Amino acid sequence: MEKVRVFDCAEQIVRAIPGGLLLTTKADKVNSMVISWGSLGIEWGKPIFTVYVREGRFTRSQLDAHPEFTINVPVGKPDPGIFRVCGYQSGYSLDKVAEAGLTLVKSELVDVPGIVQYPLTLECRVVFRQKQPIELIDPKFHSDYPQDVPGTAPLANRDAHIAYYGEIVNAYLA
Ligand SMILES: Cc1cc2nc3c(=O)[nH]c(=O)nc-3n(C[C@H](O)[C@H](O)[C@H](O)COP(=O)(O)O)c2cc1C
Repeated sequence: MEKVRVFDCAEQIVRAIPGGLLLTTKADKVNSMVISWGSLGIEWGKPIFTVYVREGRFTRSQLDAHPEFTINVPVGKPDPGIFRVCGYQSGYSLDKVAEAGLTLVKSELVDVPGIVQYPLTLECRVVFRQKQPIELIDPKFHSDYPQDVPGTAPLANRDAHIAYYGEIVNAYLA
């Protein structure tokens, strides 16, 4: 495991967000979902990565059961097969690790693995969580939350997001 200093890689991490990172969790099983929202910064004097997970996602139930996660950043172009499985299928109905062929690596400080194919890894512990009430969001973004669709289908976008703030306790290249 090659350790990295997270803010030395800040530009690389933030630039990769719009193209899709993986958010990996482990409760009953290991599960990864694609995210293209995320924030890297500082609160309470600690490095924090915040993820925004809609309430209906399997990942939400994982985080509520076990409040740790890893952020998995691709180095180079993300694998389209992994992207398809982890961004368009749900852990409710599928073992996404097997389906996407993810190679897991044990992390050092959290009980959630890293992923060889998305090697730049942030180990995070949830230190705060907060639902974002839709009525407090600028109306120009309300079309991101259509209310006439189900909430749990993959890519369903009815539900509000829960912001999970993860203290970054370690970072490494898998
Ligand atoms: C490019 C891309 C970005 C996404 N970003 C997010 C995100 O930031 N937050 C979110 O809740 N879902 C996001 N999704 C949707 C989830 O990846 C998708 O619903 C996934 O199936 C959820 O997996 P899970 O049910 O196993 O947790 C994104 C999907 C794609 C394709």
